[in-house]
Amino acid sequence: MSVSGDFPSVRLRRLRRTPALRRMVRETSLSTDNLIQPFFVREGRGRRDPVRSMPGVERLSVDQLVKDARETFRLGIPAVLLFGLPSRKDARGSGADAPHGVVQTALKALKSALPDLVVITDLCLCEYTDHGHCGPLVGGEVDNDAALERLREVAVSQAAAGADLVAPSGMMDGAVKAVRESLDSAGRSSVGILAYAAKFASSFYGPFRDAADSAPAFGDRKSYQMDPANRREARREISLDAAEGADIVMVKPALAYLDLIREARDRFDGPVAAYNVSGEYAMVKAAAAKGWLDGPAAAREILLSIKRAGADLIVTYHARELAKTL
Ligand code: PBG
Repeated sequence: MSVSGDFPSVRLRRLRRTPALRRMVRETSLSTDNLIQPFFVREGRGRRDPVRSMPGVERLSVDQLVKDARETFRLGIPAVLLFGLPSRKDARGSGADAPHGVVQTALKALKSALPDLVVITDLCLCEYTDHGHCGPLVGGEVDNDAALERLREVAVSQAAAGADLVAPSGMMDGAVKAVRESLDSAGRSSVGILAYAAKFASSFYGPFRDAADSAPAFGDRKSYQMDPANRREARREISLDAAEGADIVMVKPALAYLDLIREARDRFDGPVAAYNVSGEYAMVKAAAAKGWLDGPAAAREILLSIKRAGADLIVTYHARELAKTL
């Protein structure tokens, strides 16, 4: 054979020689179509409170949210993910399904101003409870089945206010099934579920808890979020959520868990999402502010790697700045 399978006849650099050649053989690309921009919504009017640990991210009152969501949609980003910051919190997390709660008000405003925008709501209690845990406490522990009862109510309330998809993020067992049942029996069968299927107890949520003022008042979330050491368990979580009826499964965080994004891709034929979380964003911003790396280039590389690992959709605080360059 004149052409053997190795050097010197094989030279992979041939297809890297020019920008056009590289573009032609590129395997993965970023598109605004696959980005989801998160927003933090607060009460009040005309408010844009910066989040200290997340440069470029603000806690917005509903009127300001509508402005930023309009810009987001105009940039080609189809979807936003809402986190509510209620002014009062209690043990039950009553604010999560108050008829005029902050997220319900935001949903109605967004749906009337931007009917084509996909609005996804975080479905969890930790931003609404005074103890900061993701469900009601019984004997100092989060009670799984009591949390499910609240999630059912909150899901129906968010759906009634206009959510296209609800995103249970508390890692309660049976949450997807409970939420699907409650939506269907409330006549909301067209509202979908984006399930935080494999969500780890991660230090990369630090800046988010600052933004949402949702750090647990005592203890941590290790008795419900996953142990970062566990890959097989993540596969089980993903399979269970798919079987319970998740429309989209998500892995979170993304960057330190790329192997699990690949696992999700290989075992679920529906869309896979990944959450490029607050700490991943803050690291890039902090290093860029010190001039230690090129922030936009690093962000692109990270998001590309998340796609290459198998994510169809990426929730990222970089969405809008990236969209401006695509
Ligand atoms: C709420 C929730 C959290 C995040 C998304 N939904 C915080 C947590 O679990 O402590 C983190 C998002 C981020 O860090 O960007 N359950």
